[in-house]
Amino acid sequence: MVDCSVKLELPKWYDLHAHFRQGEIVAPLLKHHLRMGCAGVVAMPNTRPPVAKVFDSDDHPYESIERYLAALRPAGADEAFEVIVPLYLTRDTSARMIEQGVSSGLLRAAKYYPPHGTTGADQGWHLSGFMDNGVFRAMEEAGVLLCIHGEEHQMAAEQYFDRHTNAEAFFYRERMPRLLERFPRLKIVAEHLTTQVAVEFVHQAPDTVAASITPQHLIYTVGHLLQGLRYHLYCLPLPKFDEDRAALRQAVTATDNSKFFAGTDSAPHTEKVTSCGCAAGCYTGGIAPQLYAQAFEMAGSDLASEEGVDSFRRFLCLNGPRFYGLPIPKETFLLERAEQEITPLRLAGQEIVPLPVGMEGKGESPVSIPWRCLE
Ligand code: NCD
Ligand code: ZN
Repeated sequence: MVDCSVKLELPKWYDLHAHFRQGEIVAPLLKHHLRMGCAGVVAMPNTRPPVAKVFDSDDHPYESIERYLAALRPAGADEAFEVIVPLYLTRDTSARMIEQGVSSGLLRAAKYYPPHGTTGADQGWHLSGFMDNGVFRAMEEAGVLLCIHGEEHQMAAEQYFDRHTNAEAFFYRERMPRLLERFPRLKIVAEHLTTQVAVEFVHQAPDTVAASITPQHLIYTVGHLLQGLRYHLYCLPLPKFDEDRAALRQAVTATDNSKFFAGTDSAPHTEKVTSCGCAAGCYTGGIAPQLYAQAFEMAGSDLASEEGVDSFRRFLCLNGPRFYGLPIPKETFLLERAEQEITPLRLAGQEIVPLPVGMEGKGESPVSIPWRCLE
């Protein structure tokens, strides 16, 4: 029988992959993260223009880490809230940029996007470019972490999502082994994994490689997206098959998990359906630890048991900050197994539909999730 009165007190956690965009919407988005027990975030650089230079004084026509951090802070991310903004890697990124960024203390991580591979990835550049132009070498030497969106770009549609391969599986089979071979000391976060192939890659890789996993990829499969075309679940990498989800669930709930951690990929889209398709990204701000707890239970983890809570704590609160070299907060937050109703949101005058809304075929009417977060 399910014990309904479960309450978990956990150290505040870090969301090591989330999108906060720009302008008025930043403040309410950050507030949602604070409300779900977050001690800090990795704020992704796929803004417009992308955060592809470190200093504002640099002439390139990009946003800078310096300015983006300065915009996030007054919007709610004060000194006590850790914010890391990875540098968006483009064809203009140079080894010198990396070295100077590190000396200034502003540069701690950099992000590889497959060119045109996802929302805001049009300025990405091919992986071998950075392998040959000194950028990865400089990152390896200076200890700058590489965040990877691991999908092959420009694949033929037949291979992009096939029974035997897909953009992510190809990337982990073909690209990642070469990257590790050339840069054995480079610290790599394999972000938002969705396939068994990627999970196995991370398991057998040395300790320089760790991975983040989103709530949606633990809860759903591609069938949930296709049955009734629930486009609210459309995100990249695409959710995959049951055996892939099983591998992800197995990885996060393992009692000895030290490599897999939380990174929600929460991405607020104010317009999911557009004239040229569907915007990729799911919004889970405010409810991510709740969804992760739900996913752990769906995976068979007993969060009323010590063993279950231990593995949940490793995944949500410990593994990520350890890999990023961040302190484990002394402050805690509470999660309780009690239903919470989720409704569409109005943020800075715009509608955002949090993920589970729209997944039950009842339009955008409220849905319940089994956990809630106590402030
Ligand atoms: C992200 C977004 O909307 O910014 N979308 C997504 O589907 N995950 C971009 C990304 O991280 O791929
Ligand atoms: Zn993302």
